[in-house]
Amino acid sequence: MQVFLDSANQKEIEKWLHQGVVDGLTTNPSIMFKDGVYDIEQGARRLCALFGDRPVSVEVTTNDCKEMVEQARTFARWAQNVVVKIPVINENGESCLGVINSLTREGILVNTTAILSFNQAILATKAGATYVSIFAGRVADEGNDAALLIRNVRQWLDAWEYTTKIIVGSIRTVMDIQAAALAGAHIITIPPPFLAKMVDHKYTRETVRQFNQDADKALVQIAEVRAAAAAAGASND
Ligand code: E4P
Repeated sequence: MQVFLDSANQKEIEKWLHQGVVDGLTTNPSIMFKDGVYDIEQGARRLCALFGDRPVSVEVTTNDCKEMVEQARTFARWAQNVVVKIPVINENGESCLGVINSLTREGILVNTTAILSFNQAILATKAGATYVSIFAGRVADEGNDAALLIRNVRQWLDAWEYTTKIIVGSIRTVMDIQAAALAGAHIITIPPPFLAKMVDHKYTRETVRQFNQDADKALVQIAEVRAAAAAAGASND
C-alpha cells in the first residue's frame, strides 16, 4: 500500500518526505488555499520538484469540460510527475468521463476525484482513470460505510484485472486510515497531522523513557565500578 500526503504545506511535506514514508502527493484548490498557495502554477511546479518522480495530483479549477481538457494539458507541461485531478461530474451533474477518456488517450495521467459511490468508481475506471479517489469522510458524512465501498471497488477492480488504483482521501480520523488500509485501498492520502498521530503512542514514549533512564543508571554504575577499581589499584601501589 502507498501513502500520499494530502497537503500543500511545504514545511510539513519536507518533514514527512525525510521520514521515508511518502509515495506521492494530492492537492485540491481548497488545500492549496488553506496552505497559502494562491498561485497554482508556481505552487504545483515547486511541489512537483520536491517529489521528483513521485506523482503529484493537481486539480482543475473550472466547471467546463472543454476548459478542463485545456487546463489538464497545461498542467501536464509543468512537470513530468503531474497527475491531473478531474471530478467525476461537474457541479451541474454533467459527466466528466469524456474528459478523463480524452486525457488518458493523450497519455495524461488522471486522478478522478470526488468519488462517493461504487458506480462512479467503475465508470471512472472504464473511462481510463489511473486513480479513483474515494472520499471516505464525505461518504461517512452521508451515513454510508466507506470501508464497504472501498472493499467492493477493490474486489471489482481485481476481479476484472483493471490496473486503476484506489486512492482513499477525505481522512477525518486516524481510524479512517486503518479502516481504509484493511478494506484494500491501494493508496491512502493523509493530511500531515494524522501521520504524527499515527506514529505516536504515550506508552511507547514511556517505554523509551524507561530504557533511557536505565541506560543512564548503567553508565553511572560503570563509572562507579571503574572509580572503585582505580582506587583499589592506587592503594596496591
Ligand atoms: C484528496 O484527494 C481530496 O481532495 C481530499 O482528501 C478531500 O478531503 P475533504 O473531504 O476533507 O475536503
